[in-house]
Amino acid sequence: MRLIIDTDTAGDDCFSILLALRNPAVKLEAITICNGNVDFAQQIENALYTLEIAGAGGRVPVHPGCPLPMIRKPVDATEFFGADGMSDANYPKAAQRPDPKHAVDAIIDLVMSHPGEIDILAQAPLTNIAAAWVKEPRIATATRHLWVMGGMDNSIGNTTPASEFNFYVDPEAAKIVAKAGFNLTLSTWTLTLKSGTLPDEVLAEIAAMDTPLARFFMRISEAPFERTRIRYGRPLSTHPDSLTCALAIDESLILDSADCLLDVETQGELTRGYSSLCVPNQGLDAIADPLWPSGKPNCRVVREADTARFGAMLVDALR
Ligand code: BDR
Ligand code: CA
Repeated sequence: MRLIIDTDTAGDDCFSILLALRNPAVKLEAITICNGNVDFAQQIENALYTLEIAGAGGRVPVHPGCPLPMIRKPVDATEFFGADGMSDANYPKAAQRPDPKHAVDAIIDLVMSHPGEIDILAQAPLTNIAAAWVKEPRIATATRHLWVMGGMDNSIGNTTPASEFNFYVDPEAAKIVAKAGFNLTLSTWTLTLKSGTLPDEVLAEIAAMDTPLARFFMRISEAPFERTRIRYGRPLSTHPDSLTCALAIDESLILDSADCLLDVETQGELTRGYSSLCVPNQGLDAIADPLWPSGKPNCRVVREADTARFGAMLVDALR
């Protein structure tokens, strides 16, 4: 498969890039950087460093994109990932430098020059994808598949009770993308907690592996382990982005999914970025929405994935 990864590179974003790089079935065409987890320039460096440590320095272009959400003030997750997004490892700069082409143009050019061939993995706030669609709406049907990590599925969020981080940071962009007409699969925070959290024995296996990538994994997981210990009572190895990448690489990891009407709340005070998901014929037939007269499902939400096979893929990528 041919893949673009749109990322706010910090923590698990890096593992997702590693999964794609280390899988021979994936041709990683470009990495595009969006506002989100940490300082924008630092996210670019984190992507470049991840390529370098994986031995792929100079092989995949890294395109900086939108440094700010559409209309909101930026929100970061430095409290979760450390100031540098890498548990304050403060890695040196990689030799590769960012590509001067803007991420929005890189996405449009790649997708429009290979219609029906490119998958996009959106593992950050959706500003770049929404801006690309506004500039060239034909990308919605020319993209083979858009895989979005974002939102929750009728459960509590990780940023507010109502919201997951990527949708919270840029809800307007998330709303645009939801309604743009992509062939869209949604991998939510709810799914991360259910199927994308590594069991202790897999974590122990990685901790015991003496490879540069396994050491990289353990080092940049330090801050998230500490934050989840405080939040959930024990350290959790949560992998929202790399689970989504694994699903894109191998759809057979999806054990349960449903076609839904997805919309995103942009008006509410307490509900900013809330992902409204409605499965037709399960209580609510269609949302009474004048902007959405068809009432046809616009996304497939993943409800369960194969945690054991996902863990095995991650372990393989770190060898
Ligand atoms: C998402 O938010 C970010 O902090 C992570 O990188 C992931 O993409 C999880 O809610
Ligand atoms: Ca991310």
